[in-house]
Amino acid sequence: MRHLLSVESLSRGEIERILDRAQAFAEVGKRDIKKVPTLRGRTVVNLFYEASTRTSSSFELAAKRLSADLVSVKAAGSAIDKGESLKDTISTLSAYDPAIIVIRSPFAGAADLVARWTDAAVVNAGDGKHEHPSQALLDVFTLRQRLGTLEGVNIWIVGDVLHSRVARSCLIAFQAMGAEVTLCGPPTLIPRGIAEATGASVSHDIDGVAEADVVYALRMQQERMSESFVPSLREYAMRYQIDSRRLTPRQLLMHPGPVNRGVELSPEVIDSPQSLISAQVESGLVVRMAILYELHTGSDQPRTTGPEPVDTPPRIGQPA
Ligand code: CP
Repeated sequence: MRHLLSVESLSRGEIERILDRAQAFAEVGKRDIKKVPTLRGRTVVNLFYEASTRTSSSFELAAKRLSADLVSVKAAGSAIDKGESLKDTISTLSAYDPAIIVIRSPFAGAADLVARWTDAAVVNAGDGKHEHPSQALLDVFTLRQRLGTLEGVNIWIVGDVLHSRVARSCLIAFQAMGAEVTLCGPPTLIPRGIAEATGASVSHDIDGVAEADVVYALRMQQERMSESFVPSLREYAMRYQIDSRRLTPRQLLMHPGPVNRGVELSPEVIDSPQSLISAQVESGLVVRMAILYELHTGSDQPRTTGPEPVDTPPRIGQPA
């Protein structure tokens, strides 16, 4: 794997290999010293043009656990504030000879551009409404940990699908792993033609969510809404909020975070036993370690034809 720009570009075998690697790193996380020397002497750049807590912190910690030198740049307080272009910023940071650049941008396609401008491997940590591949991989990892397989699992993605890069990446990843996906929300927040384009089912009736095995709620992305897509957040919550009346004990609940408490989710379901929200954050660290590992080794090691079994000893060295 040269870059991680989208889930669309990954085969099922590549997804499974990353998840198997993440499983091996989960074992490392149980050691006293949770560090391995994989990226010792290598530099990882985290470049975030948009707000982030989970993605930025987990990529930072992942790089540190792999013993990399880490440079973190956020738009606020950097030369980007003074008007420096993305290309010039990449040129500047490339002078440090980074092995990997992780970029989040409000613009779809930004990570693809960066991959053309640098010799480093590039990770798309979210580009506009386009994709958020590491989020989808950590969500598949979380479900695989809980259910063993996604084959035949009925997943409902509920809410602001239109503005959500998470929805797009998760839809592709869940389907690639054999899940049946339904997209649910008001007609204004479901992209036209998406059922025909993807094979997903579409429902505007939240009552059908009772049939789901997994309910994946999305954040209302008000920062990406240039017009009014719902009459009000209160009205949206009344019609589409996942609460304890809608979530049954047999169902699992996911959300990529950050949650608008009381809008897409009621407080009691966020903290319910069905909620995998904390497990998703936990998965984020080991999956992002696996992504950095794959990018580091992917370009110069022989490729395997399929995933390594979960119980294969990890080729990730001794504690640093
Ligand atoms: N899920 C997600 O991308 O969260 P952050 O914006 O906090 O990184």
